[in-house]
Amino acid sequence: MKKKFFGTAVLTGMVVLAGASSAMALTAQEKLGQMLYFDKYLSLNHNQSCASCHHQSAGWADPLNAAMPDVYPVSLGSDRTLNGCRNAPPSGYAAFSPVFDLQMLVGGQFWDGRADTVKDQAKGPFLNPVEMAMPDEAAVIAAIADKNNPKSRAYQIFFKQAYGVNLKSIDYMDNALILDLYDKVAEAIGSFEQTKRLTSFTSKYDYYLAGMTTLEDQEARGLAIFEGKGGCNACHPSAPQVNADGTITPPLFTDFTYDNLGVPKSDNVLLANCPIDLGLGGRLNDPAQDGKFKVSSLRNIEMSAPYTHNGYFATLQDIVHFYNTRDNGTWPAPEVAANVNTIELGNLGLSAQEEADLVVFLQTLTDGFGNKMPDNFVLPTITPLQ
Ligand code: HEC
Ligand code: HEC
Repeated sequence: MKKKFFGTAVLTGMVVLAGASSAMALTAQEKLGQMLYFDKYLSLNHNQSCASCHHQSAGWADPLNAAMPDVYPVSLGSDRTLNGCRNAPPSGYAAFSPVFDLQMLVGGQFWDGRADTVKDQAKGPFLNPVEMAMPDEAAVIAAIADKNNPKSRAYQIFFKQAYGVNLKSIDYMDNALILDLYDKVAEAIGSFEQTKRLTSFTSKYDYYLAGMTTLEDQEARGLAIFEGKGGCNACHPSAPQVNADGTITPPLFTDFTYDNLGVPKSDNVLLANCPIDLGLGGRLNDPAQDGKFKVSSLRNIEMSAPYTHNGYFATLQDIVHFYNTRDNGTWPAPEVAANVNTIELGNLGLSAQEEADLVVFLQTLTDGFGNKMPDNFVLPTITPLQ
């Protein structure tokens, strides 16, 4: 059942791709970003790109994790013997996260908000030893310009078009120049992540909000629970904003705040040596924030298993059951006992049927129901790259 579903979903994704790329003219900068995003040559063993861990077929998260969430709750690196301790969140729709606000504790990129924009974020993976594992910025630029890189000629053209840079005449001893080029690489990737390809708003739920389709009974019941008895919309807003001119701004299914759901520590072998993850509290060195992670968008959620920062839940059924029954004594202790939210979740009193209804509603959030954003939609504000 799960397998069949995955297969169908991939197929839908491909249909969208074909439809979207013909309708979508990318700027030189976005085109460059797209090439960089999909280029495995830019990793230590030439075997990993951004897309390896953030692919459309897995709702812009890791396809290996999505296919085998129990075995691989986290991504493997370019060095296949290494892995990090956190689950890869989707890169799709990430561009809408506002810059991290230290006063309000809202926004930012990563589970703990430590990068401000998708541009800032994109500087991390190339140099992370458990990800693309390049030794330094100059090595990334050199791999882009390398004659052995199958894309090197295209890069020459698009770096010139987008930035007026001649990749053939780079002084690798000029550190300021290298850092400036690295900044442009990140900016181009960020600009690609802002395109319709990653933010298409083409789910069944979007078409429903636009008045172009109706929900099945079970989907409608799930929506009512999401916004009612389940209280999910308190953190994952589902309501559209109806604008004065009649246009609709679709919801992002996250308010970008931070919370500790009380998720147990993973007992998967890949995470055996991982320290307790304090999340936002670890990053800010503030015990009042220990155990809190950024509220995820739920767009494309059925595609991007496993779920939560440590990939503890392999299926949507599992995580919905956890929200419903966390406090009934059948779950392991939270990874971080401090600051667990006991008010909004943990004992929702949902029946098995209501849990199933919620899951079916979540499955309406997968892009590709239609092939373009509804005409009466206007995009939410995209955070400017800086
Ligand atoms: C080896 C797998 C891997 C690779 C390769 C990788 N990422 Fe990630 N990505 C992750 C993980 C894991 C996280 C979460 C890390 C954390 O929160 O500390 C993440 C987080 C992100 C986020 C933050 C999303 C959010 O909602 O906070 C974005 C955007 C992103 N990656 C884009 C990229 C881009 C662009 C590249 C290529 C330059 C890339 N990633 C390469 C695994 C990967
Ligand atoms: C109090 C705020 C809050 C409420 C209420 C809430 N969530 Fe969440 N949700 C979060 C946070 C925070 C995370 C990320 C937690 C983590 O990784 O540890 C999350 C993660 C998720 C994920 C996994 C996302 C991913 O990409 O891994 C799903 C699915 C989800 N929530 C569904 C729901 C459903 C369904 C409900 C209602 C029954 C709900 N949430 C209610 C805050 C909330």
